[in-house]
Amino acid sequence: MKPVSRSGRFSSGPAADVAAFSESISFDHRLWQHDIRGSVAHATMLHEVGILSSKELKDIRKGLEAIGSEIAAGMFTWKAELEDVHMNIEAELTRRVAAGAKLHTARSRNDQVALDIRLWLRDEIDALSGEVRGLQAALVGLGTRHADVVIPGYTHLQRAQPVWLAHHLLAYAEMLERDLGRLADARRRANVCPLGSGAIAGTTLPIDRERVAVLLGFCDAKGKPCVTQNSMDGVSDRDFLVEFAAAAALLAVHLSRLAEDIILWVGSEFGFVRIDDAYTTGSSLMPQKKNPDVAELVRGKTGRVVGNLMSLLTLLKGLPMTYNRDLQEDKERVFDTADTVRASVRLMAAMLEHTHAVPEACRAAASDPLLLATDLADYLVRKGMPFRQAHHVVGAVVGLAEKWGKRLDQLTVEEFQSVDATFGPDVLGMLNLEAAMARREITGAPGTGEVRRQLTTWRRRLGLKGR
Ligand code: ARG
Repeated sequence: MKPVSRSGRFSSGPAADVAAFSESISFDHRLWQHDIRGSVAHATMLHEVGILSSKELKDIRKGLEAIGSEIAAGMFTWKAELEDVHMNIEAELTRRVAAGAKLHTARSRNDQVALDIRLWLRDEIDALSGEVRGLQAALVGLGTRHADVVIPGYTHLQRAQPVWLAHHLLAYAEMLERDLGRLADARRRANVCPLGSGAIAGTTLPIDRERVAVLLGFCDAKGKPCVTQNSMDGVSDRDFLVEFAAAAALLAVHLSRLAEDIILWVGSEFGFVRIDDAYTTGSSLMPQKKNPDVAELVRGKTGRVVGNLMSLLTLLKGLPMTYNRDLQEDKERVFDTADTVRASVRLMAAMLEHTHAVPEACRAAASDPLLLATDLADYLVRKGMPFRQAHHVVGAVVGLAEKWGKRLDQLTVEEFQSVDATFGPDVLGMLNLEAAMARREITGAPGTGEVRRQLTTWRRRLGLKGR
């Protein structure tokens, strides 16, 4: 069959290698549902403004529905010579019903593809956001199951101060919440209907763009239809894809950090958590190995997601107005980002549901009294000492303890007082871990009560049962 767009002007079809080089059906066929949805809405509007008769609309609708069922059932044959998903569906429709030849009235593939990819992106963002909520629930679940586990918090990967495990996990829930905000924001700007932009300059036909927008759900929060306001912009920009790719890349970066924490924690140097066998892999050579490959792959896949963002930016850079075939290259990049990030989020959530803390190892690491050196300085501050001086005094105490080969909690009150007379008998109580955890109760701190409150807030926000 001769490619649709070449009829008339051309005496031959494209050379075989040109066709192979320029086809997109091998990857854009996944837009078929959105393409059909857009076509049905467009045809409905064409009928309402008097361009299609009721019979023509009915034929087109039925034809598209039949084609949709065949595609869904895997019975539809995609033809590479028809280039892309838009021409494959339209050509097949036209082969079946004469009215199919009227469907492309007041429409170009340029605004059609801009429409399809926006429809696809909206669905994709909704699905991804649902998965991110699932990951937040997994984090909250792990934190709740081990609400009594304290670990050292780290800076510079050196033990710093004790935190509840839940506090560490909820840090990621917060990051993901901002990721969700960025995705919602990207969705809002993608949710504008470009159909009616035509190839570049709209149409002379009396179409109703707002009606199509309403039919396809391109409406703002108040239900007002949103349509692009400049036909050249409508067919040529893909900034909404860049925004999605950027939000997804940042989400992937957050996932990579969580993955790295898990990888460290399952290592025997930390030993803070264990992952069930089903979510780990073995080594082909070393029989004792149990590797956190899921976390490693999540970390590794971040590379391509960041790369996709760079590809998209570079694709758009310096493109002259308006549509250029370069834009066809947007799809594989955003498809890959969407698939990769969605799978990573889902697998991460599943892995966390099969992850368990090792309380003894956590406690052993967290009960190093050096982690409470800052609490000692705060103690001196409460007795009226300037913080800088308190920092110095506690530093001297730590140095002495090190010299004497003692833990901080093995020093006597007299030994503390030999460094500074401000220390009183109550100093030893400062080094009790439980009491220390109960002391950090300001908003956002890892205090016992505050972390409980945060867990409760998260459980309520995510609609989780219990507590
Ligand atoms: N497959 C094309 C794309 O993805 C559709 C638009 C083609 N438009 C054109 N003027 N050749 O961008």
